[in-house]
Amino acid sequence: MKTALVTGAYKGLGLAWCRQLVASGYRVILTARDLRKAEEAAALLNTQGTACYPKALEVTDEEQVKALAQWAGETFGAVDLVVNNAGINPKDYADKSKMAKAFFLKDLDAKEMLDVLHTNSLAPLIITKHFRPLLQKSERPVVVNISSWLGSVSQLSFGGHYGYVGSKNLLNVLNKAMANELRQENIICVNVNPGWVQTDMGGQKAQFTAAQAVSNLYTNVVCKVTLDDSGKFLNYDGSEHPW
Ligand SMILES: NC(=O)c1ccc[n+]([C@@H]2O[C@H](COP(=O)([O-])OP(=O)(O)OC[C@H]3O[C@@H](n4cnc5c(N)ncnc54)[C@H](OP(=O)(O)O)[C@@H]3O)[C@@H](O)[C@H]2O)c1
Repeated sequence: MKTALVTGAYKGLGLAWCRQLVASGYRVILTARDLRKAEEAAALLNTQGTACYPKALEVTDEEQVKALAQWAGETFGAVDLVVNNAGINPKDYADKSKMAKAFFLKDLDAKEMLDVLHTNSLAPLIITKHFRPLLQKSERPVVVNISSWLGSVSQLSFGGHYGYVGSKNLLNVLNKAMANELRQENIICVNVNPGWVQTDMGGQKAQFTAAQAVSNLYTNVVCKVTLDDSGKFLNYDGSEHPW
């Protein structure tokens, strides 16, 4: 049985990933920073036996990442798929004065920007760093980082939004560097644009439901990518996204 890790998984795209992966025969380490929320989400999906293993994970806490990887190694031996889904968009902060610190130039604050970069750009690498030994034990290891069309330099058409735009763009280039480093270990690392999705972050007017978006990504990316695709920034239909 294949094993997957999903971060930020108690709602939105993360929960849809878990649902898709359980239906596709994976056992899933379903993580959320609040363990109770992870347990409630896992209970929703564990109606016919245990397929989801709820765990607490704040993705910016490297000690938690390290402990989780150790537990996964002792429990499952290998991990086949890591979905780095957890992400923040400063526009969603309830505290709008804080939001402005990563959004508008006049209020821009380096510390706030670094916090966004930590979650959206650096945590996926730190997670892969600790899960690398478990990925090495998989027959077809895949790391999928959830990026965004907003990380594309060539398509950027509006101003501000520095935290989110910058963090997803940085994630794209960092993934390419990581893919090049891990190529000789046969670990496939891709960044994906899910499209505009109906979640708390995307809002209800978005193009896709979370289930549709994840079904697209699972079918067109996870099931199809090879080592030749490693490092690419892929669209939800499997095509290459402009950088
Ligand atoms: N929705 C879209 O249209 C869209 C488009 C392109 C890309 N994306 C990307 O898709 C991913 C999922 O977003 P979503 O749309 O499903 O949004 P969402 O419903 O807001 O979910 C985001 C998830 O990330 C978690 N998270 C945030 N910071 C975290 C941290 N430091 N540690 C652990 N978990 C953390 C959140 O948990 P808490 O509730 O505890 O904060 C939440 O579970 C994100 O990376 C987002 O940037 C979304």
